[in-house]
Amino acid sequence: MKSVKLGVNIDHIATLRQARKEKNPDPLEAARVALSSGADMVVMHIRADRRHIQDHDIENVRHDVRGMLHLEMAATPEMEKFALKHRPDSVCLVPESASEVTTQGGMKMTGKLGELEKIVKSLSRSGIEVSFFVDPEPQAIRAAHNIGADTIELCTSKYSESWGKKLQAKELEKLQLASFLVKELDMHLHAGHGLDYYNVSPVARIDGMECMNIGYSIISRAMFVGLKSAVAEMKRLIQ
Ligand code: PXP
Repeated sequence: MKSVKLGVNIDHIATLRQARKEKNPDPLEAARVALSSGADMVVMHIRADRRHIQDHDIENVRHDVRGMLHLEMAATPEMEKFALKHRPDSVCLVPESASEVTTQGGMKMTGKLGELEKIVKSLSRSGIEVSFFVDPEPQAIRAAHNIGADTIELCTSKYSESWGKKLQAKELEKLQLASFLVKELDMHLHAGHGLDYYNVSPVARIDGMECMNIGYSIISRAMFVGLKSAVAEMKRLIQ
C-alpha cells in the first residue's frame, strides 16, 4: 500500500510572528524542521489580507524547498498573478472571506466555472498542479474535474466537527463516497481541515487517500512537544 503523504501547514508559525511583527518564529525555519521530521510538503495559505504568511515567506520557502511547496489561495486574478510569479509546485484553490478566522468549507463552483477554468488552465500551463478544496459532494467534484483540476482536496471540517458525536459515522461515509468518485474520475485524492491526532486515522485509511494537509493541530502540539515531534507523531498516525 502506498503511504499517505503529509502536508504541514505552517501558517500559524507566521500568526505568532505577526503578533509582534518581529522576525521570529520564522516560517522558513518551520518549513525546514517539518520536512526533516517527516513532512512531505510545506503548505502555506497566502491570504488577501496577509494576516499571517507574507510575500517574503513564500519567496524564502520557495527558494529553499524544491518540489514540495503547496500554496493555498483564493481564486482571484491577484492570486493567480502571485502564483505565476512565485511558482509553487502545487496550488489549492480555496474560498476566502475577510471575516472568517479560517477557511469555511469547500469552494462553491456554481456560477463561476468560466473564471475558475481560466485560472486552472493558466496555472496548469505553467506546470503548477491544481487542486480544488471542496465539500464531499459529487456536484463540486465533477465540476472541478470538468474544468481541468488534477486533484481534489476533500474538506474534512464537518467530519472533524462531528468527532465523538452521532453524526461522525455519516460524515466519514460522505468522505468515503466522495473518494470513490474522485478515484473514478482518475484524480488525485487529498483531504484536510480540522484534522487532529484523534480524528485523523479513519480519514487516512480511506482507500486511495494520497495526501493530508494539516496545520492547526500540529502547530498547537508543537508548543508543548516541539515541531519535530509533533510532525513525526502525525506522520506515524497517517501511515
Ligand atoms: N486544507 C485547506 C484547503 C485549508 O485551507 C487549511 C487551512 O489553511 C487546511 C487544509 C489545514 O487546516 P487545519 O489548520 O485546520 O489543519
